[in-house]
Amino acid sequence: MPESVFLAACRREPTPHTPVWFMRQAGRYMPEYRAAKAEQSILELTRRPDLVAQISLQPVERLGVDAAIVFSDILVPFEPLDLGLSYAEGEGPTIRRPIRRPADVERLRPVDPGRDLAHVLEGVRRTKAALAQRFPAVPLIGFAGAPFTLASYAIEGGTARTFTTTKQFMYEHPEAWHDLMQLLATLAGRLLALQAAAGADALQLFDSWVGCLSPDDYREYVLPYTRHALALAGEAGVPLIHFGTGTATLLEAMAEAGGDVIGVDWRIPLDLAWERIGDRAIQGNLDPAALLAPREELGRRVREVLRRADRRPGHIFNLGHGILPGTPVANVQAVVAMVHQGA
Ligand code: CP3
Repeated sequence: MPESVFLAACRREPTPHTPVWFMRQAGRYMPEYRAAKAEQSILELTRRPDLVAQISLQPVERLGVDAAIVFSDILVPFEPLDLGLSYAEGEGPTIRRPIRRPADVERLRPVDPGRDLAHVLEGVRRTKAALAQRFPAVPLIGFAGAPFTLASYAIEGGTARTFTTTKQFMYEHPEAWHDLMQLLATLAGRLLALQAAAGADALQLFDSWVGCLSPDDYREYVLPYTRHALALAGEAGVPLIHFGTGTATLLEAMAEAGGDVIGVDWRIPLDLAWERIGDRAIQGNLDPAALLAPREELGRRVREVLRRADRRPGHIFNLGHGILPGTPVANVQAVVAMVHQGA
């Protein structure tokens, strides 16, 4: 494919402008997403490679972003694991058979991602083919949930605030925890590598909720498994992005676990985060709520992120977390224009 500013930044090479894309750039804030989704649940959508390709390209068409991300969800592997995954309209995911005891880990169905998630990989192939035809210079990002964030959904049974149930399981059943994390790490790592084989040009591991842990707990209960997942993914030879939120005190350990690019949220200034992670590329870190602010305030905040990056090679502009529903599309377009113009 032609030279991509996004891939060059992943490798910390100088680029003519700062690349930009947005986590959750395909989603409910976009009228064309809501139209394509119609009555289907996100799980039904992921079984339709034609719709996956169509939805993944919407933000490329509408926003002019420098990368596409394949339309799917981090919890999709819970279907073959037989955890009873469903998405209630507007309420987020529900897991009907959560993991609460060590025996629940043993009963998990063995998953072969090449076979059991073949529909996700077909979605990657179709999206890459559509991009190659219509936007040949725009690379495709594949993704998976990190072992900790996946384990937290499996144990909590849905979206949580304090992760007390997860921590209780971790402290009370350390052996079962380690078995669960090993299983999820292998699954995530293999799923990532298979997406690269299916055409993904870069891979992102989402550890969205890992910031609830202390650095000591991160090192003991999480780091070895995230490292395992990233090592398996790394065999594919494409850039790896390692993302989490609330990670200001975990950044050194996250960098140790791996990733060519470390994704950070807005709770830490970008330049301080960059100092902590050392010689890696960095992705972030506008507060998604800034996209709800008046245009002038939004502009001020975009410029502040760019000022802290200071055009050093290896900055990929993004939000610190996913785009919020209700975000005006025009504000997202304005951010792309500002980043491409250098403010
Ligand atoms: O555009 C893209 O970024 C690609 C698609 C994508 C989705 N989910 C689609 C989705 C990606 C990359 C994800 C990742 C994801 N999913 C994460 C990690 C990023 C993050 O936000 O921390 C997490 C934690 C999930 C789990 C998940 N899926 C939640 C908590 C929810 C409900 C909350 C919400 O935003 O609705 C989902 C559902 C989901 N995944 C939707 C979309 C577009 C919305 C529901 C729908 O449209 O039916």
